[in-house]
Amino acid sequence: MSEEWKFSPEKLREILSSKFIGKKILFFDKVSSTFDKAKEVELSDGLVIFAREQSHGKGRLGRSWESQKGGLYFSIILSAKHFKNNMEFSTIICALSVQKAIGKFVDAYIKWPNDIITKEGKKLCGILTKVNFSGENADFINIGIGINSNNSSFSKALPYASSMKDEAKKEIDENKLMCNVFEFIEKFMEYDAQRILKEFSMCCITVGAYVRAIYSQTGKEITGLCKGVNSDGSLTIESKDFGQITVRSGEVSVRGIYGEEYV
Ligand code: BTN
Repeated sequence: MSEEWKFSPEKLREILSSKFIGKKILFFDKVSSTFDKAKEVELSDGLVIFAREQSHGKGRLGRSWESQKGGLYFSIILSAKHFKNNMEFSTIICALSVQKAIGKFVDAYIKWPNDIITKEGKKLCGILTKVNFSGENADFINIGIGINSNNSSFSKALPYASSMKDEAKKEIDENKLMCNVFEFIEKFMEYDAQRILKEFSMCCITVGAYVRAIYSQTGKEITGLCKGVNSDGSLTIESKDFGQITVRSGEVSVRGIYGEEYV
């Protein structure tokens, strides 16, 4: 691992005060995706798989995730038993935790289901969750998180991406940021669902906004007022044409309808 990487595994371990997340961390210089790496290693509750670069970073709805040096790309492995019958809730908890962690450095909001964005709608972080099965049963949840921390150039295909460094106009202390992420996740895992949903809704710009939900498979669009987030992580939209509709994160992308291109 070359010295220029300011994010240091040793430093992180020194300052980490989480109880179980990050007690074991695997660091890699380059992987195809932390999801691929997770298939090759022994999974355990709280394991974190970090990569400095990903050649085939995966995003939501079959998209790719730009993963050049400078950003943080990691998978947090959590035992499925923490979330019983509601795996989607892990994504809600992680989105809220990462928003709080990033929020210690720059103004940040959640865009449902799990993007962290600036007030202007620039994306700072994306989260993609996959469930790992042992036979028929879910044993681990792999929460893949990409944070644009100290990277600052994005391809033309991503006009709505930004980084924490560009927003804060200074280098981000990624060791501190990661500690905050792990500690917030552990903290919010202890909250009950009602409290999490309340906290999530307060930081989520989608709730209370007029939105357009676009189904990725069919291109069908529904516009309406976003009434709130449900305990299974879905979103309720009140549409003039279709009445009350529930949409799920695997099916739709949601945008604002008043000219905001991304939000
Ligand atoms: C999104 O589309 O917003 C989700 C992006 C998730 C990116 C992270 S980076 C670490 C993990 N490994 C991947 O291949 N993707 C996720």
